[in-house]
Amino acid sequence: MKSSLKMVTLLALLCIIIFNSSNSVVFKLTNVNCDSYNKTWIRINHCRLKAINRHKTVFNFNATFLHPTRNIIVHYQLFKRESGYKPWLINVRIDGCKYLRKPYDAIAIFLFSIYKDFSNINHTCPLYGDIFIKDMYLSTDVMRLPLPTGDYLLAIDWIFYGKPQFATNVSFQFVEDLVR
Ligand SMILES: *[C@@H]1O[C@H](CO)[C@@H](O)[C@H](O)[C@H]1NC(C)=O
Ligand SMILES: *[C@@H]1O[C@H](CO)[C@@H](O)[C@H](O)[C@H]1NC(C)=O
Ligand SMILES: *[C@@H]1O[C@H](CO)[C@@H](O)[C@H](O)[C@H]1NC(C)=O
Ligand SMILES: *[C@@H]1O[C@H](CO)[C@@H](O)[C@H](O)[C@H]1NC(C)=O
Repeated sequence: MKSSLKMVTLLALLCIIIFNSSNSVVFKLTNVNCDSYNKTWIRINHCRLKAINRHKTVFNFNATFLHPTRNIIVHYQLFKRESGYKPWLINVRIDGCKYLRKPYDAIAIFLFSIYKDFSNINHTCPLYGDIFIKDMYLSTDVMRLPLPTGDYLLAIDWIFYGKPQFATNVSFQFVEDLVR
């Protein structure tokens, strides 16, 4: 009897911890902004957020690559807002075609894991035709990131053969778990 009561108490405690850790963190997409620098190569069809409910916003991106490309540098830069966006921690350039053959760089692997399952970038170069990210949302894994509370911008520049072709900028808000 005593030990089963202990068990119930333990289970209840565990539930409270799990419940708190998944609900007291706010992590949401707040804005997206895409731009093609070269409309004869990249046509952006959609780049928008859609609110599904109070807690969930999804990102849809769809662009047409009018010519195939076999040479892609993906430039990821993270900014944190504090009276203007200031560079914050991440600033990496990844060889996209090499990455698609064999993933490398821990930061790139983490960032790609956020949108990989929602996108048709699931083969090696060349990338050609419609490239999309469909109904992407931030998973709970991403929410476990040890980020300080704030507004962030992840700016991604796509460079083909050494020339910038388009940008996908995603802003998000993170509010730390202050309860525990
Ligand atoms: C993306 O963000 C960068 C850094 O703030 C900015 O220079 C660039 O103009 C932005 N591009 C778009 C399409 O919003
Ligand atoms: C723009 O795209 C065309 C292909 O449509 C390409 O030949 C040209 O080099 C690109 N220009 C720049 C500045 O990247
Ligand atoms: C992407 O946009 C093109 C052109 O508007 C459209 O034909 C295609 O169905 C779209 N793909 C997805 C997955 O939404
Ligand atoms: C790649 O993604 C597209 C669109 O989601 C899907 O139809 C296709 O089967 C996928 N291919 C592979 C090799 O996973």
